Amino acid sequence: MAASTAPTSQTHPAALPPSVFTLPQTAQLEALYTIIRDKTTSRGDFLFYSDRIIRLLVEESLNHLPVIPKIVETPTGATYEGVGFEGKICGVSILRAGEAMEAGLREVCRSVRIGKILIQRDEETALPKLFYSKLPEDIASRYVLLLDPMLATGGSAMKAVEVLQEQGVPEERIIFINLIAAPEGLKRFCGRFPSLRVITGWIDKCLNEKSYIIPGLGDFGERRCVCCACWYSSSPTADLDIVNEESSRVTSIIALADDCHVAFKSLIRHALRQLAAFFLAEHLAKQLSL
Ligand code: URA
Repeated sequence: MAASTAPTSQTHPAALPPSVFTLPQTAQLEALYTIIRDKTTSRGDFLFYSDRIIRLLVEESLNHLPVIPKIVETPTGATYEGVGFEGKICGVSILRAGEAMEAGLREVCRSVRIGKILIQRDEETALPKLFYSKLPEDIASRYVLLLDPMLATGGSAMKAVEVLQEQGVPEERIIFINLIAAPEGLKRFCGRFPSLRVITGWIDKCLNEKSYIIPGLGDFGERRCVCCACWYSSSPTADLDIVNEESSRVTSIIALADDCHVAFKSLIRHALRQLAAFFLAEHLAKQLSL
């Protein structure tokens, strides 16, 4: 087949709400997405290439922040009439998958403050419910980069924006960043918050009946994480429901333990590593019939 430089599978940008911005749809970007969508991609490659996209997204989102004139003197003694960012920013990740975008934000914005919001489905009402949040105290005066890699139905993201608004952050000062968006979720989200900007890397076709994005990339959190669920998912004998439930409980505990002392955190990390090593050993032993 002849080499091509233009991507083919992107929704035409003219169909997008005016508050939605996609990354430049280059062949390079499509190649990165092809890697992370491929179910045979290793976890290491998934991490590397999804991190590359996250970095592009963060850089693009910074293009949407206002600047004011700033004059500096260069080492030559000349003055340079440039610009500086007008206001302070912070990141807010929607747990758990949003945490994967924090490192990309930190690489681009030194010492950036990052808050967290944990939203889960309420068993009784089936609606998204706030379980935990920890936000910078002065968040109302900052621009907020809201991080969640997959915009599917938009339910969690909309709840997260409500939480930010309750803290006094105006809609116009929030920029929602994600790697892949479903048209259904985008429409719902942008209909509700028309002046909130959304920066997305790619807009996919649709959602399936389980609210997964199609073609998508599967469960983003699961593809990145080193947890028992990943190892067990390759084993046909594993009781995946139990393992998934356990690993999601562990991640929630880490989120809640975020406030605690660093030494305690490193203890938890150590214990989790031991646990992971145990599961890996069990899995390998099973595979090798030992
Ligand atoms: N979250 C994911 O990780 N994947 C989807 O397809 C939708 C939501």
